[in-house]
Amino acid sequence: MSRLNVVILAAGLGKRMHSTLPKVLHPLAGKPLISHVLATARTLLPGKICVVYGYGGELVPQVINDDELIWVKQDPQMGTGHALLQTLPHLDSNGVTLVLYGDVPLTSVETLKKLIATSAESILALLTLELDDPSGYGRIVRSSEGHGVIAIVEEKDASESEHQICEINTGIMVVPNQFLHNWLPKLENKNSQKEYYLTDIVKMAVTDGVKVDATHPEHAWETLGINSKVQLAALERIYQDETAGRLLDQGVTLSDPSRIDIRGQLFCGSDVSIDINCIFEGAVQLGDGVRVGANCILKNTKIQAGTQIAPFSLIEDAEIGKDCRIGPYARIRPGTHLSDEVHIGNFVEIKNSSISTGSKANHLSYIGDSIVGKNVNIGAGTITCNYDGANKHQTIIEDNVFIGSDTQLIAPVTVAKGATIGAGSTITKTAPPESLTLSRAKQMSISNWKRPVKK
Ligand code: UD1
Ligand code: CA
Repeated sequence: MSRLNVVILAAGLGKRMHSTLPKVLHPLAGKPLISHVLATARTLLPGKICVVYGYGGELVPQVINDDELIWVKQDPQMGTGHALLQTLPHLDSNGVTLVLYGDVPLTSVETLKKLIATSAESILALLTLELDDPSGYGRIVRSSEGHGVIAIVEEKDASESEHQICEINTGIMVVPNQFLHNWLPKLENKNSQKEYYLTDIVKMAVTDGVKVDATHPEHAWETLGINSKVQLAALERIYQDETAGRLLDQGVTLSDPSRIDIRGQLFCGSDVSIDINCIFEGAVQLGDGVRVGANCILKNTKIQAGTQIAPFSLIEDAEIGKDCRIGPYARIRPGTHLSDEVHIGNFVEIKNSSISTGSKANHLSYIGDSIVGKNVNIGAGTITCNYDGANKHQTIIEDNVFIGSDTQLIAPVTVAKGATIGAGSTITKTAPPESLTLSRAKQMSISNWKRPVKK
């Protein structure tokens, strides 16, 4: 069992977000703020994670929906010390507790590991930071001799000289549990905000001869909290810049690193290039030499080497093989599996279908619930009519089929190997192999017909 407990404070209201959604549920890079904190906490392999929630009632636990977390309700919210006090029955009697904030999403694992490494059963480890403008934060007060930390004062309670201090409390700290059990019940709310301040445990540590240590994060943004939409937007940009920077470092070509959004994880092979305004969601994998054109959205998709995605394509929950050509304006929906060298052109929608090597649907088609063989050519405007109003049915198109333009395939239906379908046909029965099948009215001409004229 790990000696580490983690508490995530997430009960606050977030008034300045001007939203009914609890602050920690607002998304950064496509997932709730608190989910970032949880993901970071989990990589530290703690023995337990407690989350203190309050504002928004059961919505936070419902949305996060994780039974392995210990959910502790704080109602009413009477300060950070009061919040931590609610978790006390769940915390171990030994070991240490890392305190994190549900609205501080980007703290790195490295910074937290460094902080934890300085902690011990008899050391209170604080994460602090020097800021040019420390306003709004609790200030770190150090002794004039020895310069050890002796207190944290909140801005609202700070004296004139304490206001000048530029070292601030990020709020993140590691506290020895044996002392936490002793200190928290003794906190008082005799301060300007009538709150139980967690920060008051620093003075208690000094009184009890517990060493107080201060570590700094590598980057200031790691400890930025979100209080407003402005700060949320700013931190989103920082996150995206960092992510784009990592891709560039790996050798990915980005036409403009400030115009890409990664909301999940993007794995790239060598010589991948991505044009502007693309969004990647969930887990996306791009093989060697894949090129993604401008304004594409790719979600939970795997694309193999050499494939090119032309602009304005939307691809979701799909697997795409090697050397395919997709788009522009292709829509590939969940359950699509394309083999190698498949061409999907403009205004083609594909859903829950597999298409084998070398087949093409280059213009204006809907292919749903279909199995398409090799070297098939699907003409412009072809529609698989997969839905009868109640149920979905399958279309099977075998190898080397040629489907003429503007064909409707009324599923369930099979077009057998090597068949050709005449343009404009409505196919309701099996089209036999190696034959021409067509179902359109014979062309006729009426020579003395007159166009109607306006009265
Ligand atoms: C706190 C620190 C301050 C530090 C700052 C960093 C205290 C007393 N002060 O101040 O030194 O510089 O963070 O941002 O700790 N929360 C609860 N329950 C509560 C109150 C707060 O869960 O009753 C949660 C909030 O949801 C938030 C976090 O604790 O995630 C911090 O609360 P906040 O009110 O923002 O603290 P600050 O006053 O900014
Ligand atoms: Ca705050």
